[in-house]
Amino acid sequence: MKKSKTSFFCQHCGYMSPKWLGKCPSCDGWNCFAEELIADQDAESRADMKFGGKPLQIEDIPAEEGNRTVTGITEIDRVLGGGIVAGSAILVGGEPGIGKSTLLLQMMHRLAEKGLKVLYVSGEESAQQIKLRSNRIGASCKDLLVLVEISLERIQEQIKSVQPGIVVIDSIQTVYSADLMSAPGSVGQVREASSKMILFSKKHGIPVFLIGHVTKDGSIAGPKVLEHMVDTVLYFEGDSGHAYRIIRSIKNRFGPANEIGVFEMQDRGLKEVPNPSAFFLAERPQNVAGSVVVPSLEGTRPILVEIQALVSATNLGTPRRTAIGVDHNRVSLLIAVLDKICGLHLSGSDVFINVAGGVRVEEPAVDLGIVAAMASSFLDRPIDPHTVVLGEVGLAGEVRAISQMDLRIREAARLGFSRALAPKTNAVHLTKTAKMEIYAVSSLKELLENIF
Ligand code: TYD
Ligand code: MG
Repeated sequence: MKKSKTSFFCQHCGYMSPKWLGKCPSCDGWNCFAEELIADQDAESRADMKFGGKPLQIEDIPAEEGNRTVTGITEIDRVLGGGIVAGSAILVGGEPGIGKSTLLLQMMHRLAEKGLKVLYVSGEESAQQIKLRSNRIGASCKDLLVLVEISLERIQEQIKSVQPGIVVIDSIQTVYSADLMSAPGSVGQVREASSKMILFSKKHGIPVFLIGHVTKDGSIAGPKVLEHMVDTVLYFEGDSGHAYRIIRSIKNRFGPANEIGVFEMQDRGLKEVPNPSAFFLAERPQNVAGSVVVPSLEGTRPILVEIQALVSATNLGTPRRTAIGVDHNRVSLLIAVLDKICGLHLSGSDVFINVAGGVRVEEPAVDLGIVAAMASSFLDRPIDPHTVVLGEVGLAGEVRAISQMDLRIREAARLGFSRALAPKTNAVHLTKTAKMEIYAVSSLKELLENIF
């Protein structure tokens, strides 16, 4: 008889060890190993790939792009790279309560309305709860089927008998495969159930959406261990204090990664925000010191955000530096540069930086904006409200070039901005736009001379 093999898996990060360990060498978690049965790996090979052939010349390989199904929700279609590819597996991750189920139900409703049979499998909520949500968002259609089930084998049976054109599994943490002993939600089960589901969908050419919960610190590693298995990884993010939600592609085998779609959570479901810049700038105060607009780039999409700085005299021995929406270390670095190079001594001041609307901007192209906002607040001189600022700042106080300048400037011009302070290196190559006056700056000193 074939002996079944077991291994120990870290329940946080999925690290595998042949022996039980008290501390995980990968994520440093304590007491997080559990024994799990390893299922037969070679039971099924990848259905969409044929193994054992000869090397081919790349020219001779036929380029077939699978059929794409367009959802009709523009923000989603763009993030997916132009629609859902047949047989693809798409992971939708996000914190609990962010709106994953709502988004998927709305999407499935759109597809069902177009006559595609869709199957929404839920292991999280009862059919009545799903019905209540669907009433709320007005999703009702004969081609939208709901199945409440957590057994992978029974889900696959139902898919075979119903023959839907698309499947949603909400959520992958609730599904279990009878081949494994471990509990639903454990890393082994999540990985096994997903890989079986993905194989199944490839074999039958049915695209499948897998919903996965992640917590803020990423401690439930379920979706993380799946990222390499699926074709596309989307993260649904946002702040519970704000109504806007962003869906972002982290990985996409069929389109550009880092693309975003913006939604607003309303009382009747998610609404697309086709013009996010205007949305994020809606409440901007004018002619107030410490506020500046920066054209940042999310994927291929320029989005204007407002950076606010408040520099005030400190009462503490060590002044406070708080950054919300931008990298904290980056802010410390820029404060040091302002101090050393420009003689703006912020060492006796608390510095607070906030990106309005609760957005996060990670790219270094916002450096110059942060500096401008801090200087404006420190000197108590407002920046002209029709000005945008963009550029990366180096440690010597030099302003460095950034990517996709044209795109950012065009978006700023579209929203009525008329002046931009931008890196000199970029400004040389810029195609002229009639409406935008460009001030090329090569150092922070030049920025401070021209901005007010
Ligand atoms: P949900 O889709 O259940 O989140 P997830 O599946 O990611 O856990 O959405 C949860 C939140 O969305 C819930 O707190 C209520 C809110 N919501 C609205 O504000 N408007 C709506 O129309 C719906 C359906 C939900
Ligand atoms: Mg849900």
